[in-house]
Amino acid sequence: MGSPPTSKISLTGIKPTGEPHLGNYVGAILPALDLVGGYDSVYFIADYHALTTIRDRDLLRRYTRSVAATWIAAGLDPDRTTFYRQSDVPETFELSWILSCVTAKGLMNRAHAYKAVRDRNREAGREDLDAGVNMGLFNYPVLMAVDILIMNADVVPVGRDQQQHVEYAADIAGAFNSVYGDRFTFTIPKPLIPAADASHSLPGTDGRKMSKSYHNTIPLFAPAKEVTKIVKRIATDSTPVEAPKDPDASAVFTLLNRFADAGLVADSRARLLAGGMGWGELKGQLAEALTTRFAPMRERYDALMAPGSELDDLLAHGADKARKHTRPVLEQVRDAIGIR
Ligand code: TRP
Repeated sequence: MGSPPTSKISLTGIKPTGEPHLGNYVGAILPALDLVGGYDSVYFIADYHALTTIRDRDLLRRYTRSVAATWIAAGLDPDRTTFYRQSDVPETFELSWILSCVTAKGLMNRAHAYKAVRDRNREAGREDLDAGVNMGLFNYPVLMAVDILIMNADVVPVGRDQQQHVEYAADIAGAFNSVYGDRFTFTIPKPLIPAADASHSLPGTDGRKMSKSYHNTIPLFAPAKEVTKIVKRIATDSTPVEAPKDPDASAVFTLLNRFADAGLVADSRARLLAGGMGWGELKGQLAEALTTRFAPMRERYDALMAPGSELDDLLAHGADKARKHTRPVLEQVRDAIGIR
């Protein structure tokens, strides 16, 4: 980690459970890259977290590489950021056991993701409320606490859905510190939640917030033809071409506004308001804006995704950097708890 030792550490994990889409780019990637100048930044691919849901070997590999390639293509500079795969840092898994031994089971019982599964089972009338819960899902917050604590993170930029997990990491750090604090203390991390404003969220193809769980995403790097097809599917009303339209009530326009040149946006806004511009034409503009805007990123992405690209070296180098930090932490923790 290159910056001066006084700078604070910002850390976040990216779970590789799908192909990166526009919503990820605007909601997670851009805000995280914005922090790089002000913090010592540590970003990693949480591939072992993805294992709680992804059981397909090829898919897990593909998503892991795809997420890594996306972040680098989007501008993550591996020289200014510690960027690695969680699974390349074995200290994580030893510390996971150690911290689980100071973590109250009751805390895990109250975790949102686990409780949500139990609620669904209850609603479905199942007798076993833990049906479908594996221990990976149950222990998920402990592994995440380890990710954060082992790197000494001060702040953790995450979405609101992950806030509780960061608070748990702080609780678990406190639990460890209160037992072993005379020999070793973990930094207490804080969540850094971006304002829930328009700059961090995008509408998806059905008009709701773009999210993998709604199946309404627009992939970042799909071929132009596919992007065009998906853009055509964006929900619009049946206002005829001649009628005036409210640009700001339209998902198509909101997306255009975000990704096209200001001149084109202003022109289309005026034409929609005046009447005479149809949704079909607007969608054509959007598909083209997306293809043009992401063409350079996409070229870099494709190069990184090619077999034998520098991606694996970059990640291996990131893992070396990470382990320079995690090895001595684990040494000190072992010493503090009496394992030598
Ligand atoms: N749980 C996070 C998510 O689903 C991913 C994650 C794993 C993470 N470890 C982390 C995020 C550590 C921040 C810090 O998005």
